Amino acid sequence: PGHLISAGDLSREEAVLILDTAEEMARVADRPIKKLPTLRGRTVVNLFFEDSTRTRISFEAAAKRLSADVINFSAKGSSVSKGESLKDTALTLEAMGADAVVIRHPASGAPYRLATSGWIEGAVVNAGDGTHEHPTQALLDAFTLRRRLVGADAGLGRDLEGRRVTIVGDVLHSRVARSNVLLLHTLGARVTLVAPPTLVPIGVEHWPCEVSYDLDRVLPASDAVMMLRVQRERMNAAFFPTEREYARRYGLDGDRMRRMPGTSVVMHPGPMNRGMEITAEVADSDRCTAVEQVANGVSIRMAVLYLLLGGNEPAVTTSRTEAR
Ligand code: CP
Repeated sequence: PGHLISAGDLSREEAVLILDTAEEMARVADRPIKKLPTLRGRTVVNLFFEDSTRTRISFEAAAKRLSADVINFSAKGSSVSKGESLKDTALTLEAMGADAVVIRHPASGAPYRLATSGWIEGAVVNAGDGTHEHPTQALLDAFTLRRRLVGADAGLGRDLEGRRVTIVGDVLHSRVARSNVLLLHTLGARVTLVAPPTLVPIGVEHWPCEVSYDLDRVLPASDAVMMLRVQRERMNAAFFPTEREYARRYGLDGDRMRRMPGTSVVMHPGPMNRGMEITAEVADSDRCTAVEQVANGVSIRMAVLYLLLGGNEPAVTTSRTEAR
């Protein structure tokens, strides 16, 4: 099977196929019976070595809506805490007959290792690896942006072309930022990163985006502003201005939001630090898509699991939903 390790591996056609398939999956949620039989008899393992609320729950919901069997594995409370290796954990899952393994891991590259190791035969989906990538988050963000800014019926070639997306905050530690830059570039959007100089990754000049240190200058020209969580758990104190200074220079409050174009949206992948990168006023405003992003995550993850595992049957009833 194929794998989904990096948003950068997706061609424009593949990315749009996932977005279009997710649109069909979202329509299933409006039906009286919300379940499709497509993955009946298949097993999806959620293999989480790091904490998660949204990603783990939405992969579980997505797999169940496609009638797959789901095994949830959390490193906490497992034999990983007795020192069991990724290899031996993977071999155990293989013995259980996993058709897909959705992995979140603190080490950048762990999903790639799993996909290329030969330890398992199933599809590997990266659900966030260290500071590297979180491709399904980028897909659900693109899906949310397309719905809000373009409309659900956007076709190939019209997806987010020329839209201006500003990603703000702790880029250094953000797998969400990297995956979004790669995918949004593929879809034709123009991305600007705004961050304190100490939270800009080395080598960012090779990323397909611009970099600014001045949020107030960029906001009026943004169709969407994506606020990143300040990742205190990965933070070296030397990287970080004081919390008050960070909020003052890089936080989004009501005054700043009102300087954005009227049709623009505020995004946040969650979990939020209210009062740090985003105020409660902004987080709870109609402009903020954070809850919508979570709902869209189920449709995107249904689409990804279907396209990786679905085999030959149409997911819903249209010719666009061919398996890869
Ligand atoms: N956005 C995101 O990945 O959230 P979780 O860490 O709760 O899964």
